[in-house]
Amino acid sequence: MLVLGIETSCDETAASVVENGEKIISNVVASSLRFHKRYGGIIPEIASRKQLETITSVCALALKKAALDLKDINLIGVTYGPGLLGSLVVGVSFAKALSLGRGIPILGIDHLHSHIYSSLLNNKIKLPFISLVVSGGHTSLFYVRDHGNIKLIGSTQDDACGEAFDKVAKILGLGYPGGPYIERLAKKGDPKKIRFHCSNTRDPFDFSFSGIKTAVLSCLRNRGFQVKGKSKFYSNEGFISDVAASFQETVIDTLIKKSFLACRANRLNRLAIGGGVAANNRLRERFSQEAANQNINVYFPLREFCMDNAAMVAGLAYHLFKENKVSDLNLVVRPIV
Ligand code: KG4
Ligand code: ZN
Repeated sequence: MLVLGIETSCDETAASVVENGEKIISNVVASSLRFHKRYGGIIPEIASRKQLETITSVCALALKKAALDLKDINLIGVTYGPGLLGSLVVGVSFAKALSLGRGIPILGIDHLHSHIYSSLLNNKIKLPFISLVVSGGHTSLFYVRDHGNIKLIGSTQDDACGEAFDKVAKILGLGYPGGPYIERLAKKGDPKKIRFHCSNTRDPFDFSFSGIKTAVLSCLRNRGFQVKGKSKFYSNEGFISDVAASFQETVIDTLIKKSFLACRANRLNRLAIGGGVAANNRLRERFSQEAANQNINVYFPLREFCMDNAAMVAGLAYHLFKENKVSDLNLVVRPIV
């Protein structure tokens, strides 16, 4: 069964053809990131305008690369939320038009559930399992009983994990998105040099990252750094690398503590990580070490499927359709969870 996935929840416009939920036949991702960089974050209006311009060619390219025609497609899976309102509307409207014009069934897919699925594109994971999704917009722990039965067991109370990387990178005078910049700088720093911590939450499975971002800011101010102006920081690269390494390590410590606690509390020894932050090498290394210590199997997506993509959407859509789930032209976007 051939599924065309469409994903437009943030700045990417993505389309992919996946066969039977696992064989990726084509995968196309266009990003409008370069148009947002100078603002230091995603501007929703720019994102949706670029998506409107590119969605037709991105879908056409995904079909062309797969050497297929629309008439070969058995199902369209499309992200309907959470995400940016205007961006979601572009993807969902386009999918509805294809569905109406070609009589192809359509299925709305939850963006976070598709991030969970990204690990299943390259791993066989026995159900049920625990999943941690760490992205620019979310930090959530899920109990995955089945593809269509996913329970949220914890989420961030303030900033998302990727958002914390982005904000700290901005404070340090680095680029956007911040995760890869922090990761690179952290390699040169000492992760034990500065003692940061993530705020406690009432529920042990929830997260809070806004406090640590403020702590980084205070740490720099206490050292007499002006928070604006790159050059000052670069002349003190040793110290800034220590800040980046200590911040990154503290965030990873928190993610590890809560994810493995969720595994133990639910008596599960399978943990799948997804979302943009899962591309981080230090995170992968630390989770793998801890998994070996605790006799838990940890699974990661391939790096290219950590970021937003449509293969994870098409893959999940296949399984849900098999469970008789289907949407229709009344499908509406749901920007907020
Ligand atoms: O999943 P994603 O592509 O988009 C959302 O659904 O939000 O995640 C983007 C986030 C950004 O906040 C970015 O800084 C973070 O993932 N990220 C990383 C790394 N690569 C991307 N964070 C830490 N380390 C990385 N190597
Ligand atoms: Zn995402």
